[in-house]
Amino acid sequence: MENMSFILFGATGDLARRKIFPALFNLYRNQKLPKAFSIIGIGKEELSNKQFQELVIDSLYEYSRHSVNDKAQKAEFVKSITYISLDITKETSYQKLLTLVKKVEREHNLQENRIFYLSVSPKLFNVITTNIKKSNLSNTSGWKRVIIEKPFGNDLKTAQQLNDIVQNAFQEDEIFRIDHYLGKPMVKNLLTFVSANPMLQPLWNKHMIANIQITANEEVGVGSRASYYEQAGAVRDMFQNHMLQLIMMTAVTMLDERNAIKLRAEKVQLMETIRVENQHDVVRGQYTKAPCIKGYKDELGVDSSSNIETFFAASLFIENPLWEGVPFFVRTGKRLNKKETKIVIEFKNVLNNHEKKTNSKPNLLTIHINPDYGISLQLNSKNPITGELETITMNFSSNDKDIPEAYEYLLADAIQGDLSYFTHWDEVELAWKSVQPIIENFHTNKIPLNFYQAGSNGPKEADDLVNKHGYKWW
Ligand SMILES: NC(=O)c1ccc[n+]([C@@H]2O[C@H](COP(=O)([O-])OP(=O)(O)OC[C@H]3O[C@@H](n4cnc5c(N)ncnc54)[C@H](OP(=O)(O)O)[C@@H]3O)[C@@H](O)[C@H]2O)c1
Repeated sequence: MENMSFILFGATGDLARRKIFPALFNLYRNQKLPKAFSIIGIGKEELSNKQFQELVIDSLYEYSRHSVNDKAQKAEFVKSITYISLDITKETSYQKLLTLVKKVEREHNLQENRIFYLSVSPKLFNVITTNIKKSNLSNTSGWKRVIIEKPFGNDLKTAQQLNDIVQNAFQEDEIFRIDHYLGKPMVKNLLTFVSANPMLQPLWNKHMIANIQITANEEVGVGSRASYYEQAGAVRDMFQNHMLQLIMMTAVTMLDERNAIKLRAEKVQLMETIRVENQHDVVRGQYTKAPCIKGYKDELGVDSSSNIETFFAASLFIENPLWEGVPFFVRTGKRLNKKETKIVIEFKNVLNNHEKKTNSKPNLLTIHINPDYGISLQLNSKNPITGELETITMNFSSNDKDIPEAYEYLLADAIQGDLSYFTHWDEVELAWKSVQPIIENFHTNKIPLNFYQAGSNGPKEADDLVNKHGYKWW
């Protein structure tokens, strides 16, 4: 692995504390960082190096997945961190940063390999990338990469504007757009799961699969994120990025996950053929109060007349020869009865009528993504005592606390320059193009806002969406 500098904008922020530093530390412990590296943390707050390193150590105790006593390792790890307080909206700050980066590179004997991680408000993405280029920070004799957090734009136009600016400073193969769902272990396992099991490959198509259901439900409400959520809603927050990515990762046939170029090209082809039939195939909802639970409109920071959706469901089709006619149902929402992210593949029931009478249930393959990690398979079997047909479920699941988090996988990939699990601009642009008409229909109220009680299953219209195709949500 080549040595490098990891330059973190937003080093004092929530994401850095909860995810980025713990992920970097776990990589360090597992010898997945280069032998020589430095981390340069940038925040607005005035802090000495020592004060900042102590903050990082605190965050490692709180959020690192390792509970072992590794005080010495933590102390050793933070020695590689240098902190600088800068106002990153000012052009002059970038000359100071360049001077520091060069000094650290000299002291640690590092090549000019630089990763810039933008863990800051999306409003700052433009100014940072513009100034990285202007200041010559990106003019390196080694490689350079930029990692950008979500959201990548707020609609098609702002995403295109942002992309123009980022691509002015970095080439497409230097841009690592984060969609942390792509780093979730079971999502990273999907391609291998199909490619390593020859019995599954012949089943992965419209001839054998009746429908695919993707659920990403949360029990929590909007919490402290009301100001962001009021601008976003479930479509921007979950569907445009994570849910569409899960659809594509389920539908790809490219089974060599380490071939980023081919994998991302196939996802682009899929995105080009994804179709939401019409506005009747989209359901939006908002949670209302329940005993002891506030409704969305009563949440702190939410406009009491807000018509932002906290729930979204849709049925989509991929119009290519492999998947045509197979509905992909998606649903996502807040304040639902169960926290669960999963993909359920329902196989066609090809039994003849006589066999169907025996009460058989469809074969279901479920990929459990969060909070459980695993796979289950529903089959029909004859009960050895009663002789009746019954449904049995084969389960593989793991609650192992040692499974790395998404950020750990994604950072390891970015450090190695592997773009497989980062989104290409073409995917992002096509995703915005397919979502834009839906958002516009929301604004003009062509798609009504339905209501569901907090803690329920979501609006009943989401059931109708699936029932009308002859199925039910699993
Ligand atoms: N937090 C999450 O769970 C989460 C999840 C998914 C995506 N994201 C994305 O990750 C990014 C960061 O989120 P966050 O929650 O970590 O935000 P945050 O807690 O508000 O942190 C923002 C960071 O930006 C720094 N900053 C702001 N203005 C600055 C300026 N003018 N000059 C220098 N530094 C400045 C802050 O420094 P000071 O603290 O010193 O002011 C702080 O370090 C956002 O794009 C967000 O959408 C976050």
